[in-house]
Amino acid sequence: MFAAKRDREDRRRDEPKRRERAATHHSLKQADPNALQLIKIIGEGSEGSCELHQRIGDGKLVVCKKAHIIRKNMIQGNTPREVKILRDTLRPHDRIINLISYTFDKKCDELHTYYDYCAGGDLQSYLYPDTGSSEAFIWHVFRQMAEALAYLHTGYARSDPNKSGKMPHSWRPVVHCDSKPDNIFLRTPRSAENLTPDIVLGDFGLAVIGGDKDGTEAACYQPPEFPYNTPAGDVWALGALIHRMGHGEVPVEFKMPKRYRGDDLDWLTDPCSKRVKPLPFCYSEALSRNMLDCLKLRADERVGAYDLLRHIRRDDLGRG
Ligand SMILES: Nc1ncnc2c1ncn2[C@@H]1O[C@H](COP(=O)(O)OP(=O)(O)O)[C@@H](O)[C@H]1O
Ligand SMILES: [Mg+2]
Repeated sequence: MFAAKRDREDRRRDEPKRRERAATHHSLKQADPNALQLIKIIGEGSEGSCELHQRIGDGKLVVCKKAHIIRKNMIQGNTPREVKILRDTLRPHDRIINLISYTFDKKCDELHTYYDYCAGGDLQSYLYPDTGSSEAFIWHVFRQMAEALAYLHTGYARSDPNKSGKMPHSWRPVVHCDSKPDNIFLRTPRSAENLTPDIVLGDFGLAVIGGDKDGTEAACYQPPEFPYNTPAGDVWALGALIHRMGHGEVPVEFKMPKRYRGDDLDWLTDPCSKRVKPLPFCYSEALSRNMLDCLKLRADERVGAYDLLRHIRRDDLGRG
């Protein structure tokens, strides 16, 4: 009986602390970030750092991204927009990074997000300057990225075995706004045994629901209609990635015209700097054609992500 009373008193004493913890730590699953052990830093950016941790309980590897929320429009109500999109809008999907949990300290605008670790790292580390990738690897990235975008833009979820693959009636498109090689992760390392590990789209730090006029996409992967960020802009960025993988360079003319008044960045973001070339002859006509469909200068002429996925499935299968 005394023990029960002591328990009750302990609980009462700990209640404010418990509430405080619950307010700042919103666990989405059962992961307990407090029981994580730092292994190494895996990324350092302008807004924070990315750390690899191991969960003591089960040994699971978890990435902790620490970011400072600098722009007020990155918060919706009390929730950072990145969390709102990954937790409330999207369902678990094979091609989208899995958010495990997060903490948000409103006083100092510090956001910690915890993700599944993709042991293959990011796609940038598999690209080499001025060199093309193999046709099979490009098709693989193209197809799986089209799956990611088709889900974000239309809700179509066929790569998820638990979903029917039907298109939901009402879906507000999620625009990623920053799909470039550093934000595309490989679930496992690329090796001679597995040249095509599964691809996962990550870093939803700039993502928006609907469209936005506040684009911040990396200059080299930006659509000509920048700063308007719409689903068509994500499709351009995917085309630019395929261009980069086939040509060894993005579809941008880096040489500034002599009489250009702005600086390098102005030129990279200028629609006039976009220079789209069909893929070299060593690649199939179908791969080049699908890439060019993504790189139409006019956004309204560009292929949609769902149609792109259909075309890629048809053409990639057709190659035998
Ligand atoms: N879940 C993850 N698995 C493996 N590597 C990751 C993961 N998340 C981030 N990284 C690495 O850390 C880098 C930075 O992470 P990212 O989410 O893109 O944040 P930011 O670009 O805002 O700093 C990535 O380019 C990648 O190299
Ligand atoms: Mg990033």
